[in-house]
Formats: sequence, structure tokens, C-alpha cells
Amino acid sequence: MRIVLLSRSGTLYSTRRLSEAARRRGHDVRLLDPVECELVMTGGAVEVFHRGRKVGPVDAVIPRIAQSVANYGLAVVEHFGLRGVVLVNDSSAIAQARNKLRCLQALAARGIEVPATVMARDATQIRQLVGRVGGVPVLVKLLQANGRTGVMVCESLQSLGAALETVLGLGQNFIVQQYVDRRGGRDLRALVVGDRVVAAVRRRPRPGRLARTLGRGARLAEAVLTREQAALAVESARVVGLLVAAVDMVEAGGKTRVFEVNASPGLESLEKATGRDLASPIILLAEQEVASRSGARVRRADGGRG
Ligand SMILES: Nc1ncnc2c1ncn2[C@@H]1O[C@H](COP(=O)(O)OP(=O)(O)O)[C@@H](O)[C@H]1O
Ligand SMILES: [Mg+2]
Repeated sequence: MRIVLLSRSGTLYSTRRLSEAARRRGHDVRLLDPVECELVMTGGAVEVFHRGRKVGPVDAVIPRIAQSVANYGLAVVEHFGLRGVVLVNDSSAIAQARNKLRCLQALAARGIEVPATVMARDATQIRQLVGRVGGVPVLVKLLQANGRTGVMVCESLQSLGAALETVLGLGQNFIVQQYVDRRGGRDLRALVVGDRVVAAVRRRPRPGRLARTLGRGARLAEAVLTREQAALAVESARVVGLLVAAVDMVEAGGKTRVFEVNASPGLESLEKATGRDLASPIILLAEQEVASRSGARVRRADGGRG
């Protein structure tokens, strides 16, 4: 199979691992930096050029689109999709995952438990806003146009008021979300590939103030999910339309709530925590998708029989 990895650099851990796994399975792998791609459209044809040269036939594209080139990168993914290439993941699903609000809307609408969340453009009714998510502490999550997010914990109405004033002053959208206290619970991440969870980890809680529990780079340990949690993770990825996703969940008080679905999960921390090869399952999935699509083509040519 001819696989294109869309990534800024082959030295990035996940890109390197995916490329190794694909080569090991005998595939022809090409690494393309999305910003070096030109997208050409003329009546009836869409072509991708890379550094001035036309990109030939491709069976599957695995996008690893950096936040910094999100818009352009997604256009590149879309262009390959329009040429009939299998995408692991497609551009609209990646865009939906990038937008925390859209993602939560889609999940909640399908009956998936999410932390109580409210979006507003007016911060004058703070008490009411906080009331809707069950009182302080709350999280304020910024929804920046470039897809970056910022998360802050507000432990009082006063600090929330000050935070929202700043956020609105910067002209940014935000959501206010119930801060789920997971004492006695777990902060979980499940890597979903196709219709199964291939790895699950939990973030080790750190002692100290609320804000410290938010830290990125927190230590991860392998976790065992309940059957329901695994099904919830798979369903969440499906709702957002992702074939590969890291689904972040918080388990507390006997409930598991999904708070984020990520489209290009970093494999490094997950592989290190579990000691497992998580790149190969993604390549296997790409193979299956390509096979099932060409199977469908054969069936159609066959007049729909078989
Ligand atoms: N509703 C919540 N309650 C408690 N902790 C949360 C909640 N939402 C997120 N967190 C914590 O904050 C971290 C960052 O939030 P997240 O929505 O994943 O933002 P991002 O990944 O964009 O920085 C999460 O990894 C998690 O540990
Ligand atoms: Mg996150």
C-alpha cells in the first residue's frame, strides 16, 4: 500500500513510529509536510503537488496535523479525501475534535455524559452561569480561533469574574465547565483505533491545589477500563467521526464523563506507559479501511451482488 504521513517532521516521535510500523508491514511510506503541499483544482480534477512535483496515487493518508498549521493542513487532508484516498482521520472529524464546544455539543446530543458545560458571551450573570454547572470550582476553557486552548480553574465567583473579564476583553470565546473532583476517581485516556480501545492510561493525581492537577506532562500509568468505559470511548470517537482518537474521561462518583476527544494523540506517552506498540494497530486499521473500500468498489462493479 502507498501511505502518506502528513506531518511537519519525520523526527517527531509519533510520525517516526507510524512510519516504522508501516515499513515493517511492507508499505511504501512517504512523509509529506503539509505546508510544502500545493493544492491544485481545475474543472474535474484535484491534484496535490509536493515541492513542485505531482503526488502520484496514494491509498491512505494518516494526518498528523500540527496545531500551528491546522487550517492549511486540513485543506490538504480534504484534498486527498476528494481524490478518493482513505483518510485516517478525515478533515471534518479533525476539525470537530479541535473545537471543544462542537465536540461537547455532539457528544451531549448523543446522550454521552460530559461535565456540565455552558457557553455564553455575556459575563454579567456570573452567579447564574456558575449555577448551571453546579457551583464553584469551575473551569474556564478558552476557545481560540487557532484551535489552541487554555484552561483555568476558578475557585470563587470573584476569580471567575476577573478571568471572564479578561477573556472577553481579548475577544475570545469560552466555556465554563463543572470542575469534576476526581478524588477517589480516575483521569483516564483511552486510545481508540477503529472499534476498539487499544490502550488506556490514567494520569497520576498530584497532591496540592486544584490547578496542579491540570498539569500537562502529568505522569501516566496503564489503566484497565471497565467494559462500559471502553464502549463509551469507542462511541465518543464514532460520534465525532474519528477512526483514531484519544478519548479523555474523568471517572468520579460512580460516573464516567467524557471531556475531550483528540484527533492526533501523541503516541509517546501512551507507548511509554503501556510498553506496547500502538503504531501498528493504526497501520492495520488503514489497511482494513483500504481493503473494505476496494471491496465495496468491486461489489458495485459487480452490480451489487456478493
Ligand atoms: N471538567 C473537568 N473537571 C476536572 N478536570 C478537568 C476537566 N476538564 C479538563 N480537566 C483537566 O484539565 C486538563 C486540560 O483540559 P482539556 O480540556 O483536556 O484541555 P487541553 O487538552 O486543550 O489543554 C485535562 O487533561 C484534565 O486533567
Ligand atoms: Mg486535553
